[in-house]
Amino acid sequence: MTADATPVAAKKVSPNAPTEETVLEVKHYTDRLFRFRLTRPSSFRFRSGEFVMIGLYKDDGRPLLRAYSIASPSWDEELEFYSIKVPDGPLTSRLQAIQPGDKVLLGKKPTGTLVHDALVPGKRLYCFSTGTGFAPFASVVRDPETYEKFDEVIVTHTCREAAELDYSKEIVEETLNHEFLGELAQGKLRRYGSCTREDYEYKGRITDLIESGKLFEDLGVPPLNPETDRVMICGSMEMIQDVKDLMLKAGLTEGSNASPAQFVIEKAFAG
Ligand code: A2P
Repeated sequence: MTADATPVAAKKVSPNAPTEETVLEVKHYTDRLFRFRLTRPSSFRFRSGEFVMIGLYKDDGRPLLRAYSIASPSWDEELEFYSIKVPDGPLTSRLQAIQPGDKVLLGKKPTGTLVHDALVPGKRLYCFSTGTGFAPFASVVRDPETYEKFDEVIVTHTCREAAELDYSKEIVEETLNHEFLGELAQGKLRRYGSCTREDYEYKGRITDLIESGKLFEDLGVPPLNPETDRVMICGSMEMIQDVKDLMLKAGLTEGSNASPAQFVIEKAFAG
């Protein structure tokens, strides 16, 4: 008997095969951005800030998976994701139509560098993000460990238009008002939102705001200091490279899980 003739039910399921999780909630922010929440298997463990493969079955029955940052913190009973909608994107064109009750595939191996383990201890944590690069920081700012490790947590989010900043605004407000997290985050957590193509409280690319020193003036903090400051960066490849250059110029060194240091980077995944 050939493998193709094996009845489906008799086929061996790989221990690494994704699990099927149920969509619990979907919220659309703009015509290009949405978040959704899934059931979390009790065996699914991750560190806040990590990413995992998620996806849907294709018409031919094979899984179509893409890397997504987990936007919920590691203690949450559910999993949250923040996604772009690409009209002709193989996954996001279909993922954007999910409804509560639908199934989404979840990989079994979360991983990543935007984690506390990859940073050496410090006093002030900066999380610099553009676009959907805010997603891992939605996890990090909702993790109590962040406030145990740092006296100050500054999350920046830069997008082209104001409506694209709604998710980070909502997450930070929710965190500050949260029953348990609020107490830890109040007086420590601050969000700095900026727009590049529309009027907003702050204007301009994060790179320009760092270089000119306006970011630090606006926040009332000293310039970047390798002794005290730790940094996580998530955005497009270009954004990461440009912010990384500024961190190196300020004297910070790049860390990893194997060799923790003063800043860490990860590209924002766009399905
Ligand atoms: P800009 O409008 O000046 O291009 P995108 O949607 O293209 O990923 O961009 C998201 C945000 O990141 C935009 O505000 C964009 O600014 C900004 N951005 C794009 N490239 C860089 C970069 N190399 N360094 C810093 N910010 C960037």
